[in-house]
Amino acid sequence: MRHITILLFYIYGTIQLCLCKDIGRRQVSNDEISRSKDSEETPDFPFTTVIDILSSNVQFSTFLRLIQRSGNVNHLNDLQNFTLFAPVNSAFADYDDEFDISTFDINDYIFHNCILYTNDLINTTKIIYEGVNHPFVIGQSWDSMTKTNFKINKIPIVEPDLTPNFQNATVQGILNNLEKPLSLSEVIKEENYQLHDQLDIIFDDLNRLISRISESEKMVDGNTVIIPSDDSFERHLNSVELKYLLDSYNNLDRMQRPVREKWINHLESFFRNLIFKGIHGGFIDQSEVLTNLNNESILFDSNRVGTHHSSNITQDSLASNEIFRNGVAHFFEDTTILTNGVSFDAENYLHGLNCSGFVSEMYFRNIEDMIQSKEGIDEKMTIFVPEANQNDGMGFTKSTLLYHFMNEQIRLEEDFPVLSRGESFTKIFNSSFCSSGKKLGNNCQRVKITKRGDGYWINDKLKITVSKPYIIGNKLIYTFTGDLTPPGDLILSVPPFAHCSKSISFLRQLNLLELKQNHEGYTVFLPCFNSWGSISLTMDLIERDLSLMEQIMKNYILNGLYYTDMEDKLLETTNILGEKVKLKRIDDPDDSKNIELELDTMFDNITLSKTEDIFFNQGVLQPFQMTDLPKAVNISIKQLIGVTDSFEMISFLNKFGDLSHKLFHNSPHADLYSILIPTYSSLIFEDININSTKLENFLRLHILKGNETAGLINCSGEITTDLGQILECRKVSDTESFLKIKGGSDNEVRILKKGCSTARNNHADQRACVFLIDRPLSLSWTHRYNYHFSFPIMAIATGAVIGVLFIMSLFCCMVVLKVGKDPSHRHTDTNDEEQARDEHDPRRPLLSVPGNNVRSYTNQHRMVRTPTSFNGATSKSNDSPSNSSTIPTHCSKSAAQAYSANSTATPINVSPRN
Ligand SMILES: *[C@@H]1O[C@H](CO)[C@@H](O)[C@H](O)[C@H]1NC(C)=O
Ligand SMILES: *[C@@H]1O[C@H](CO)[C@@H](O)[C@H](O)[C@H]1NC(C)=O
Ligand SMILES: *[C@@H]1O[C@H](CO)[C@@H](O)[C@H](O)[C@H]1NC(C)=O
Ligand SMILES: *[C@@H]1O[C@H](CO)[C@@H](O)[C@H](O)[C@H]1NC(C)=O
Ligand SMILES: *[C@@H]1O[C@H](CO)[C@@H](O)[C@H](O)[C@H]1NC(C)=O
Ligand SMILES: *[C@@H]1O[C@H](CO)[C@@H](O)[C@H](O)[C@H]1NC(C)=O
Ligand SMILES: *[C@@H]1O[C@H](CO)[C@@H](O)[C@H](O)[C@H]1NC(C)=O
Repeated sequence: MRHITILLFYIYGTIQLCLCKDIGRRQVSNDEISRSKDSEETPDFPFTTVIDILSSNVQFSTFLRLIQRSGNVNHLNDLQNFTLFAPVNSAFADYDDEFDISTFDINDYIFHNCILYTNDLINTTKIIYEGVNHPFVIGQSWDSMTKTNFKINKIPIVEPDLTPNFQNATVQGILNNLEKPLSLSEVIKEENYQLHDQLDIIFDDLNRLISRISESEKMVDGNTVIIPSDDSFERHLNSVELKYLLDSYNNLDRMQRPVREKWINHLESFFRNLIFKGIHGGFIDQSEVLTNLNNESILFDSNRVGTHHSSNITQDSLASNEIFRNGVAHFFEDTTILTNGVSFDAENYLHGLNCSGFVSEMYFRNIEDMIQSKEGIDEKMTIFVPEANQNDGMGFTKSTLLYHFMNEQIRLEEDFPVLSRGESFTKIFNSSFCSSGKKLGNNCQRVKITKRGDGYWINDKLKITVSKPYIIGNKLIYTFTGDLTPPGDLILSVPPFAHCSKSISFLRQLNLLELKQNHEGYTVFLPCFNSWGSISLTMDLIERDLSLMEQIMKNYILNGLYYTDMEDKLLETTNILGEKVKLKRIDDPDDSKNIELELDTMFDNITLSKTEDIFFNQGVLQPFQMTDLPKAVNISIKQLIGVTDSFEMISFLNKFGDLSHKLFHNSPHADLYSILIPTYSSLIFEDININSTKLENFLRLHILKGNETAGLINCSGEITTDLGQILECRKVSDTESFLKIKGGSDNEVRILKKGCSTARNNHADQRACVFLIDRPLSLSWTHRYNYHFSFPIMAIATGAVIGVLFIMSLFCCMVVLKVGKDPSHRHTDTNDEEQARDEHDPRRPLLSVPGNNVRSYTNQHRMVRTPTSFNGATSKSNDSPSNSSTIPTHCSKSAAQAYSANSTATPINVSPRN
């Protein structure tokens, strides 16, 4: 039989030689022939066994000794139907005679039930996985070092096809020892090393993924694994998903069990996509259908020699037939099956965004459902998560967590309008924090999102990192910097710059900062923007009268929530005094920034800035500019005068029945009157008392009809007093205004405080107010002509004298100018000239120019001389040419040259003498 083989080889080789088809192959064939001839030369015992072959060939002495030492001689002799791979002596050179015999297993070197001849391997590759301890890859592969043509597990077969005649077996002498195969991840690591070098392709991600799966060895056992490159991971997964899967932030390993298990499950189902049942590799004649552990099928193919594979989910493999402990791996750049059936949810994304702490808290509070999509239910939601920071373990309350969610999709870039420079736009959304039933009823606490030039902000203080959301199913995720907490107590929510402190202090005095739970929330209209400052007299009164304060403030607190973005135009509710309140919104189509509310408990409409609502834990604060007190409040003129220290005025008024009647008696048909009240001390100082003559006129000078009040409040127009005099008001600032009598003396009185009574009559334009002034208006101021009668003559005389003096001084000036212009008078400035002559004197003028250019030059460059005019003694006429002459005349440099030559020095005054 051997002879027949040799003969066949010989014929085959000869044919090849003749056809000159493949020089390499021809060489191989010749080589084999010579080898076969060699073995023919070995002493031809009648009956040879495998052991005989090993012992007759010195090259195998080490291996034979190992067989003997391990007591396998008989075993080998008894064996039929096998192939033995026998390493030559050099294979054990590295072991230094210390080969651990206990690890030696003869079966590692045997293909059972398989008699392998190398000519079965021509132009092909096989994976042997039956009758072996581990799978082997064996096939044709040229090795230039040993000039051999076949390899097993990358080891050249140097002594092929040694065939005993008394045993159904072959012996293949191999160059190196057959190592125990590596684990899958070791194979990937090694291959990554190779392929990275050759092709610059990295295979790292899968390995990182496998390393987290404790079951991975079991999963791949006896199976074929498709190894995609990192590129493939990047192609099919976005960075967040990848970071999650690979636990890039090293969070998941430390998470509570359910979180960790969910992640591992995810990894496993991922990995199962890549694991195909059974061992497939080497030459595949007709495409095989492979099924992975997730029961998906693919069509698998090899090239003609079985060294590369392809499938309908990959292109050609980069490396194939990589044997690991109990399977085979094929390396591909990409595979489309990578993410099949693998889906992500918001929880996964949060991990990928390094927000595992947040997820962990969700689990802790038993609300992890919100970030998961279970049974195909994926509710629309927007999640705002804080960018991970170091102090991540701050802990969230349940309400805080819920406040990060909105039950709708907010697409910042689409939902907000394009703004022009300096504009901002705010929208209010319901958060998912709706559970504070006692406080807000069934309403959810709200969140403001503002678009400004510099991006998007949550509740005006937390910056949203990127305006594009991470989208996962129906959920959108944005990250922001900082800590988002649900609105807190009223007092903590009030914006510091809205000037609400007085109202807040009233609420504090009334114990209204913490409101009773009303199961529907509160709307607090808060007088802000310095509302009280403009009615400081009223404020004084309120501060002294708690029940008044209570009545006012409680009128401003309504049960129920009213937000400025509400669709409802009408709201019927009660205030916390229990009184019914009808609230009506009036839309002004021209004003997109504000809304106006008409409350039937108020005289004036309340103007609110849209979306300037301030949320607090019990409802919403609506800061507004208060213009009037609630209707229910009663404040009389008498009360207001009472809080000034000048109650005398009341007794003065009482002296005149009609005046006190005008002021103190209200009826719908009677006119209202306002009064100016001088401070008590000024009254004394001006010596006004009940016995003063002209007291009535004095009083009437301080009394105004109700329709004039507005002029005084606004400090505009002419204000007619009851006496008929006209007052002019001069507004210096928002808080300061002065009054004088029109056409009278220049004396002014300052309005210190004001406050209005709540009295109304049939005339909507009439108000009765009290103005506290720093001193009384004097009747004498009205008689300008009598008082100053002799003055004009004095004035004319003074004017004449001043005029004459002015003309004289003007004349003097002209003389001085004329003298200064004359060059012969320059000697007074020689000192300057000497100093300026030194070019390196830092005080030398920077812009020195030739003398004849001086005048035109100084005209063009007036700015150069301005320091002189500032610093120079004003006594000296700076405009005089004598001053100009301080600019050195000898210097012929141009202005620019001169400047640059000195430009490192500090600028110098043109006139150095000062
Ligand atoms: C040897 O292998 C062949 C084919 O695999 C088989 O038919 C035969 O029975 C085997 N002989 C022995 C002794 O195992
Ligand atoms: C092996 O491949 C070479 C080159 O493709 C071919 O010429 C030769 O016929 C093949 N041999 C066998 C046995 O298929
Ligand atoms: C060797 O195996 C072949 C088939 O593989 C079989 O026909 C033959 O009888 C076997 N010879 C011996 C000696 O077992
Ligand atoms: C690949 O082929 C298998 C078997 O025919 C088939 O079930 C599968 O859908 C194919 N996959 C793709 C991506 O074409
Ligand atoms: C409030 O608004 C309504 C509707 O525009 C208007 O009729 C009413 O006069 C306003 N009230 C005040 C006090 O301005
Ligand atoms: C005013 O006159 C009355 C009577 O003439 C006198 O009793 C009273 O003291 C006077 N009051 C003042 C403040 O001068
Ligand atoms: C106030 O009413 C009187 C008539 O009663 C009128 O003469 C006067 O012009 C009014 N003043 C203003 C400011 O309207």
